[in-house]
Amino acid sequence: MHIAHQVIVQPARRVGGTLRVPGDKSISHRYALFAALALGRSTIHHYAPGGDCASTLHCLAALGVSVRRVASDTPGEPPILMIDGVGLRGLHASSRPLDCGNSGSTMRMLTGVVAAHSFSSTLTGDRSLSRRPMRRIIGPLQRMGAVIQAAPGDCPPLTITGAALTGIDFVADVPSAQVKSAVLLAGLQAAGRTRVTESTPTRDHTERALMAFGGTVDRVGARVELEGGQPLRGCVARVPGDLSSAAFAAVAAAALPGSAVTIEGVGLNPSRWALLDVLRRFGVDVEAEQTDEWQHEPVGRIQIRAGQLRSLELGPDMVPSIIDELPVLAVLATAGGGLRVTGASELRVKESDRITALVTGLRALGADADELPDGFHIRARRLAGGTADAHDDHRLAMAFAVAGLTATGAVTIEGADAAAVSYPSFFSDLDRLRA
Ligand code: S3P
Repeated sequence: MHIAHQVIVQPARRVGGTLRVPGDKSISHRYALFAALALGRSTIHHYAPGGDCASTLHCLAALGVSVRRVASDTPGEPPILMIDGVGLRGLHASSRPLDCGNSGSTMRMLTGVVAAHSFSSTLTGDRSLSRRPMRRIIGPLQRMGAVIQAAPGDCPPLTITGAALTGIDFVADVPSAQVKSAVLLAGLQAAGRTRVTESTPTRDHTERALMAFGGTVDRVGARVELEGGQPLRGCVARVPGDLSSAAFAAVAAAALPGSAVTIEGVGLNPSRWALLDVLRRFGVDVEAEQTDEWQHEPVGRIQIRAGQLRSLELGPDMVPSIIDELPVLAVLATAGGGLRVTGASELRVKESDRITALVTGLRALGADADELPDGFHIRARRLAGGTADAHDDHRLAMAFAVAGLTATGAVTIEGADAAAVSYPSFFSDLDRLRA
């Protein structure tokens, strides 16, 4: 689905209807990686259709994994993936650099995978990814025995010379599921036990996915641990809808009086649903009902209705669990209530500097907004419209599109095509919700 670089979004009176969102990006990466390391075939339905998860598949194919896409008989479903696993430490050296595109998850988690393979791999990324910090994974993986070279500032490209790794006891200093997962993926292929302790819990999809592929992982308080060398077996899996993608339609419904939107088949993993609690604290009417469980991941339906918006403050304890939804929550804050976020300096090292780019973009649309060193402060004031630059960042492109619905005038988004890395059908889905 092609998205133009520049997209103009017209205001909406309200939104309504029922929506299904693409497969969860975080879960898709993990299923692809575990399927590659398992023995036998995995069949993955509803794999995320965006560019980021395609980057993971391209890299795995370059490392010798057979990845096939088979058209689904069900209308609207993405192709079904068939991945033939090569077993732990069974990948082959790639003859060319592994291009992770825009995807930090691909680069960080794949580094953990190739670190256990005794060949050299070079991982590259686009301009945005080439600026992102990698020290957080280099440190623990070096302690396990890998040799990793990076560009100045510990940025990509990374050249990893893998080895026979040894498990470590790792206390994470950055709350990051990507870092936890990189260490666990390396630990799975290392000698002995690997332990990761987190001060603030992060999404636990790696732990749940590992169980789906027949592995065992233990959680002891804030510590996750696993035994190296456990063989995994291929499985049949279906990826739940991505709650972070659903957040855009949810906020549109929350911000426009008289709106009601239902999103079905969406992941309701407790380590991801902080968004729903935050919306409720904002004064939004949120109903969530679990209808299924797929491979240890709860799945269900959410219904969002506009309410009387209140002001909100979010601090460091909340930030890791809603990090990806903060840009669109900032848009909600302009529609009513206001929002002050602190302890979120991680936003500065995402696909863009999401503090500066978000506040600059919202101000260009008429917001009363300030940057803080580690967050932002948005006061309630209806947006007027104008032009906002998404800085090639998918979550900003989609947040500014929601701003276009809630503003009094049209919003032009520069860099709207970035939405394709996680949600290629975003603009057509948003149009269908206009009521
Ligand atoms: C992700 C973890 C988060 C999140 C990213 C996906 C994951 O990043 O922002 O979009 O799939 O593990 P960090 O681990 O850098 O916090």
